[in-house]
Amino acid sequence: MKVLVTGGAGFIGSTLVDRLLADGHQITVYDNFSTGKYEFVAQVRGNPAYELVEADLQDEACLRTAMAGQEFVFHFAANADVRFGTQHPRKDLEQNTIVTQNVLEAMRLQGVRRIAFSSTGSIYGEASLFPTPEDCPFPVQTSLYGASKLACESLITAYCSGFGFQAHIFRFVSILGERYTHGHIFDFFQKLGADSRSIEVLGNGQQRKSYLYVHDCIDAMLLAIEKAQDSVNILNLGTNEYCTVDDSLGWICKQLGLVPERRYTGGERGWVGDSPFIFLDTNRIRSLGWKPRLTIREGVIRTLQYLQDNAWVLNQAIPRLQTDQQSSQEPARDLAGKSPAISFDREPRF
Ligand SMILES: NC(=O)c1ccc[n+]([C@@H]2O[C@H](COP(=O)([O-])OP(=O)(O)OC[C@H]3O[C@@H](n4cnc5c(N)ncnc54)[C@H](O)[C@@H]3O)[C@@H](O)[C@H]2O)c1
Repeated sequence: MKVLVTGGAGFIGSTLVDRLLADGHQITVYDNFSTGKYEFVAQVRGNPAYELVEADLQDEACLRTAMAGQEFVFHFAANADVRFGTQHPRKDLEQNTIVTQNVLEAMRLQGVRRIAFSSTGSIYGEASLFPTPEDCPFPVQTSLYGASKLACESLITAYCSGFGFQAHIFRFVSILGERYTHGHIFDFFQKLGADSRSIEVLGNGQQRKSYLYVHDCIDAMLLAIEKAQDSVNILNLGTNEYCTVDDSLGWICKQLGLVPERRYTGGERGWVGDSPFIFLDTNRIRSLGWKPRLTIREGVIRTLQYLQDNAWVLNQAIPRLQTDQQSSQEPARDLAGKSPAISFDREPRF
């Protein structure tokens, strides 16, 4: 099948691209490399079934050209950072909602009718029901990111009803694994690299979160797409466990052999829009025969190992974090390996 993957040079998108190529599909990656990495698609360069369009989804003409002849779209490009939404209030609207409209319109104009979308558990805001099922009421949004993703979902489902599209909307918990470039493990690892004796924890450390390993996430999506019958298919993707931020930091510190003093910024939330409890009901995807292979702890350790072996990921990300956080931290050189090469720890099954 001819498949366009927006955000195909990012953490999750590039991992999906590897899998789709291995499964025999013809892939076009559409990415502006704002957070995506050339290293993540370097191994597929030269593959005749792979094409790269380096462009922004705001370029509607380019997008329309790239869409011609495609049969399926994985729309993964986004501003994936929840935390800094209030520092740039238009970014989520532009990079998430408006570009999704652009993708849908390019699909309509080129006669492409099937889309999978990477949504998020953040759209539930601060849910009242745990584990949170897909049909849980969620009238109040708590982050600009969640609000923009919910608007994307609305547009996608309206295109299903208006233009006969078929959509697969996946609401992820936080994703872990190889090629991880943002999130709490990244932040903790970077902070411990700068100072291994003391670490700042955003909030009170008691926030409860669920996580999912990236290859488990991709298995779930591909299975759901294969089995889907409906025009609109909405599925939570996560594990049936959660941990606290303190638990996760404990696993990280144990793995690194460190016992830093923990300094809590306090409060139930680490930042505006941080949900104190994220735990999704995954019965819908499990009823299709899927279950995750890694526990949260195993996913955390594997992610940490990836960062240790790929110090270049942290070093590249430093400028963006300095801008966003006004941070003066040094790169985490002490804890990380020196290898500049990508070391993608593929399981035989993938
Ligand atoms: N990582 C998670 O924990 C998580 C959780 C829930 C949902 N998601 C969603 O999954 C998707 C992938 O997330 P990720 O973690 O791989 O993020 P990522 O930042 O690694 O990937 C996003 C990709 O989109 C590209 N991109 C962004 N804006 C673009 C634009 N305007 N035009 C073209 N390309 C653009 C970036 O360069 C990058 O390659 C996102 O939609 C994100 O919101 C991620």
